[in-house]
Amino acid sequence: MTYENAVEAAEFIKSRYPHAVETAVVLGSGLGAFADDIGNAVKIPYEQIPHFARSTVEGHAGQLVLGELDGKHVAVQQGRFHFYEGYDMQQVMFPVRTFGRMGVKNVILTNAAGSTEPEFPPGTLMLITDHLNCMGENPLRGKNDERFGVRFPDMTEVYDCGLQQIANEEADAIAHERFEKGHDEVKTDFLRRGIYCALSGPTYETPAEVRMYRQLGGNAVGMSTVPEAIAARHQGLKVLGISCITNFAAGMTGENINHEEVMETGARVAEVFKELLRRVISRIN
Ligand code: HPA
Repeated sequence: MTYENAVEAAEFIKSRYPHAVETAVVLGSGLGAFADDIGNAVKIPYEQIPHFARSTVEGHAGQLVLGELDGKHVAVQQGRFHFYEGYDMQQVMFPVRTFGRMGVKNVILTNAAGSTEPEFPPGTLMLITDHLNCMGENPLRGKNDERFGVRFPDMTEVYDCGLQQIANEEADAIAHERFEKGHDEVKTDFLRRGIYCALSGPTYETPAEVRMYRQLGGNAVGMSTVPEAIAARHQGLKVLGISCITNFAAGMTGENINHEEVMETGARVAEVFKELLRRVISRIN
């Protein structure tokens, strides 16, 4: 996957959607409904985009949706490429590299994740403040192309503090407005802050592993996001990361974990999640 490949993919997308896109959103498992809110949408299945792989997991539509949200042009990745599906890291990060060549400035990465925190029950949204890369691979391993970025990228602030601040303010505003309207199912602290620990999957973790990752500082465990976040920072894009906590991680309750539960929780929080994304995007573009 070369720089030229990313340019070619970007040129193709621009030929279908010529507007300047400043913000791209990657939607996690069960969170695809956000793409339905995009106006004047141009939908491009991944297989049509040069050099893009295809998404195979249930719950991921596998298309890029370009269009307007509150008058802002956005690109929304409805379905991502996961390492556990068998794609290599080059394929996993390729869409983000394409966004960079399209002139995108901000990338919002979302995912479904398991909570290692008794205080973050399913339905909580977690603003990612930092990550632990426990996937066993780094997407930038290999020859570096300086046109993307430097050989040894700094990772001190992967998740942009300014974007985090905006997300916090908008979450507070949503909680306040909903409380006034009597929607007391939306808790004032529905957006918590925490560290996302990325594993390769596709198995969920064992209870012993969950205890280990929690001790290492991970507040949530998941199987995505970190490769894209690294690729985005390499290119100087700003990153905002939001996890939807869909379940307690293995061993935290007596229950087993299944993919259906993950998808159901995503659907349950869809409304507030979409509202948060919409408000954040209208402020950052
Ligand atoms: N572990 C890893 N990935 C996940 C989980 C989990 O518990 N829930 C959703 N994605």
